[in-house]
Amino acid sequence: MDQLRLAIFASGSGSNMQAIVDAAEAGDLDITVGAVVSNKPDAGVLDRARAHDIPTIVMDPRAYPDTSQYVSELLTKLEECRINFVALAGYLKIIPPEIVARFRGRILNIHPALLPAFGGKGYYGRRVHAAVLEHGVQWTGVTVHLVDEEYDTGPIVLQKPVRVDPDDTPESLAARVLKTEHEIYPAALKMFTEGRARIDGRRV
Ligand code: GRF
Repeated sequence: MDQLRLAIFASGSGSNMQAIVDAAEAGDLDITVGAVVSNKPDAGVLDRARAHDIPTIVMDPRAYPDTSQYVSELLTKLEECRINFVALAGYLKIIPPEIVARFRGRILNIHPALLPAFGGKGYYGRRVHAAVLEHGVQWTGVTVHLVDEEYDTGPIVLQKPVRVDPDDTPESLAARVLKTEHEIYPAALKMFTEGRARIDGRRV
C-alpha cells in the first residue's frame, strides 16, 4: 500500500487523535493525517485538528434525509483528501456498511476494555469502566480492532491489559486506560505502515 493517509473519526476531545498526530510529527509513525471527521461541530477534536492544519469534515448523519446521500457525500470528501485508511477514535456513530466495505481491512477502532468483554452496543465511555468495576474483574485494558458491520466485533489487532485497583472509580480507571490507549493506537497503526498486520479470518 502507498503511505497511509489517515482519516481520524472522533466525536469527543480527541486525545487519541492527538497521540497519533504527535507520533507522526515526531517521526515515529509514517503516516499523514489527511482529515479529521466529526459528527459534532463543537467537538474538541476539531480544535486539535485546526491547530495542526489538518482538514476537518463535519457531518451529522442525522441531518441527511437518507443514508445514501450522507454516505456518498462523505466518500467524496474522503476521496478529495485522498484517504486510504480510517481510524475511529471515540466516534459515537455506527459506520455505514458502505464505508466499512470501502475500507475493509483498513479501518480500525479503539475500545477501552479487553474485547470481547465489555463491548458492543451501549458500551462506550464511562459505562465501560463502570461495568468493569461492577463485574469485579481484576484486569481490564485496551483493544484496537478492525471494524466490521457490528459494534466492537471485528478482528483484534492489538491488546494491552491494565490492572484494576480495589479503590478505582470509573473516572480513575478511565484515566489510566486512556494513557494506555495513547500508547497502543500508534503502535497498532505502525503494524500496518510496516506491513506487519496480516489478516487471516479473525486472526491478525
Ligand atoms: C476513548 O476512551 C476510546 O477508547 C473510546 O472513546 C474515547 C475517546 O477519547 N472509543 P478521546 O476523544 O480520544 O480523548
